[in-house]
Amino acid sequence: MNIHSSSPAHLFQPLTLKSITLRNRIGVSPMCEYSSNDGVATDWHLVHLGSRAVGGAGLVMAEATAVSAQGRITPGDAGIWADKHVEPISRISRFLKEHGAVPGIQIAHAGRKASAARPWDGGAHLADADGGWETIAPSPLAFGGELPKIPRAMTEADIALVQSEFAAAAGRALAAGCELLELHAAHGYLIHEFLSPLTNRRTDRYGGSFDNRIRFLLETTRAVRAVWPERLPLAARLSCTDWVDNGWDIEQSIELARRLKAEGVDLIDCSSGGTVPDAKIPVGPGYQAPFAERIRREAGLPTAAVGCITEPTHADEIIRNGRADIVLLAREFLREPYWPRLAAKILGKKDAVPAPIQYGRAW
Ligand SMILES: Cc1cc2nc3c(=O)[nH]c(=O)nc-3n(C[C@H](O)[C@H](O)[C@H](O)COP(=O)(O)O)c2cc1C
Repeated sequence: MNIHSSSPAHLFQPLTLKSITLRNRIGVSPMCEYSSNDGVATDWHLVHLGSRAVGGAGLVMAEATAVSAQGRITPGDAGIWADKHVEPISRISRFLKEHGAVPGIQIAHAGRKASAARPWDGGAHLADADGGWETIAPSPLAFGGELPKIPRAMTEADIALVQSEFAAAAGRALAAGCELLELHAAHGYLIHEFLSPLTNRRTDRYGGSFDNRIRFLLETTRAVRAVWPERLPLAARLSCTDWVDNGWDIEQSIELARRLKAEGVDLIDCSSGGTVPDAKIPVGPGYQAPFAERIRREAGLPTAAVGCITEPTHADEIIRNGRADIVLLAREFLREPYWPRLAAKILGKKDAVPAPIQYGRAW
């Protein structure tokens, strides 16, 4: 794809990534639902994701899906560490495709933020007596606040094991019919914990210098790319900055994006934060879009903008001005599963989101 094409794209223009074409530039951002049983997706997921496909999204990305039981944030997290997880995800993928959306999935390991209660149960770390489990991270540093548990520092054997779990998860995502795979390297979870100097204090080849801190992700990407077919797009979600002095920042993200591109990553999903509890984050409409814009321009690969994008004109402006290749919405899609249809009406492109035949003229 020529991302610097002279005719500007717009929100309803299809986007081709590798052999996959999204019908528009609107995606459902991954959202944990904490509604799985031993990692197995449920009817909730079919309805939650399926309704956004019916609503017209081009990409519907399933939530952070744990590559191991240990890598779950909570006991209710979705998982993809066993073959029993595949068929329920396949059912969802089939439905999403039937309704014109590309099924994506985010694979994740929660690192030191694992072993917590579901948000509606308070979200704090679970004591072992309450079903908690051992957490692992690059260094034995607790997140703090409601997540005080000190993780065990990973050995090189742990590192190799988790990387093989990511690769196995990619294989299962493929078997489940997913067409876009995203590595969750953001929000203070395991991969991001390796990237950030705030959470990575290792003195071996996985810590210290920039090259050492990105090694875990680059090796994981390589292992995943060996399993995830060349014809399908691979994405990585980054926290483009920790919003903390001397932490991970946009300059490092740009250089990392270049290295990820060389490893076969096709899209950088540009988020931020999550490393430490006390970061001062200037949240506001499109506050992370400048990261998508810079990475797109300076690393030369497609990006996704996400974060407080709710207005159709704003979403369209981000695409038209080449600030990102796709916009992802999370909370606005919870409020309005038919957001693409609504956006098409507001932008004067009513026919851009055709009705499912079942709804016909009522659309
Ligand atoms: C309920 C909920 C669950 C989320 N779960 C995930 C997740 O699984 N993986 C992830 O990368 N981000 C997750 N996020 C962050 C969103 O994907 C998104 O980046 C963030 O909410 C900002 O977008 P928004 O302003 O459109 O909501 C979640 C957000 C919400 C509201």
